[in-house]
Amino acid sequence: VAEAVKLSSGHHMPTIGLGVYRSAPGSETYDAVLSALRLGYRHIDTAQLYGNEADVGRAVRDSGVPREQVFVTSKLWRDSYGTESGLAAVRASVERSGLGWLDLMLLHSPSADPGRREAAWRALEAAVQQVVCGAVWCGVGGNLVRSIGVSNFGEAHLEKLMRGATVQPAVNQVEVHPFLQRRELVAYCRQRGIVVEAYSPLSKGSKLADPRVTSVAERLGVTPAQVLLRWSLQHGLVPLPKSTHPQRQAANLDVRSFELSAGDMAVLDGCEEGLVTGWDPISQDPV
Ligand code: A2P
Repeated sequence: VAEAVKLSSGHHMPTIGLGVYRSAPGSETYDAVLSALRLGYRHIDTAQLYGNEADVGRAVRDSGVPREQVFVTSKLWRDSYGTESGLAAVRASVERSGLGWLDLMLLHSPSADPGRREAAWRALEAAVQQVVCGAVWCGVGGNLVRSIGVSNFGEAHLEKLMRGATVQPAVNQVEVHPFLQRRELVAYCRQRGIVVEAYSPLSKGSKLADPRVTSVAERLGVTPAQVLLRWSLQHGLVPLPKSTHPQRQAANLDVRSFELSAGDMAVLDGCEEGLVTGWDPISQDPV
């Protein structure tokens, strides 16, 4: 399993990222991100909705890891969907982070208003475009973000967005784990060069004691969380496990020294039960 995947934008994204959803703004997020960077994480996933972009940015800046070596994602919340409002909100995220640019900006969900969603995609396109005027980089958004994508989009949402897009989404971030595999959506994205990021790859902790997971873990001498993350990686997904505990963070990153056999993968593939642990815009938001 590669350390990084190349996105359609040409930029590389590390294949395991730290999620900071439900990491409280302030020291909880700051400490979690700083500890993750010290342990070797090079990919942090935040969002405007989480209220902790500033803490993520401060931890990245204080870590001593060169900015170029850390991949930071944020997400535009639907209240700002629109072209002018979206671009202003992207700029605000970049400023709050104090990082100079964001590596990836996503539409957080399709949302109920398809017109404003399309307009918001125009904003992300403007934010990612690098327009050369004479010898200097300029343009409307000018280098605010390096790659753009979406989150919580189903096939129909993607299909519609891509028809009208001049920049195609580099990723689609959705909830995926063995208990919610979204196989058709994952295959659809793969065919179109869209990398699928898996949020809640640990099913928010809800299935760590499932006997099918624990039996594989015990046999391999690893933890249930490591089994779930390895399953993600072997399916070509980019998992974004959340933990505020350094020991768990370390274990969640340490999933390259073992492999799941075809038999183990089949056991986990057999766990599908449509378990949505969070919200479900894919089925709720109109196309
Ligand atoms: P904590 O942050 O207290 O470590 P997901 O990434 O699927 O959303 O799951 C996150 C949940 O799983 C959090 O409640 C997190 O708690 C917990 N968690 C993260 N890593 C591990 C681990 N290695 N072992 C057990 N629980 C974990």
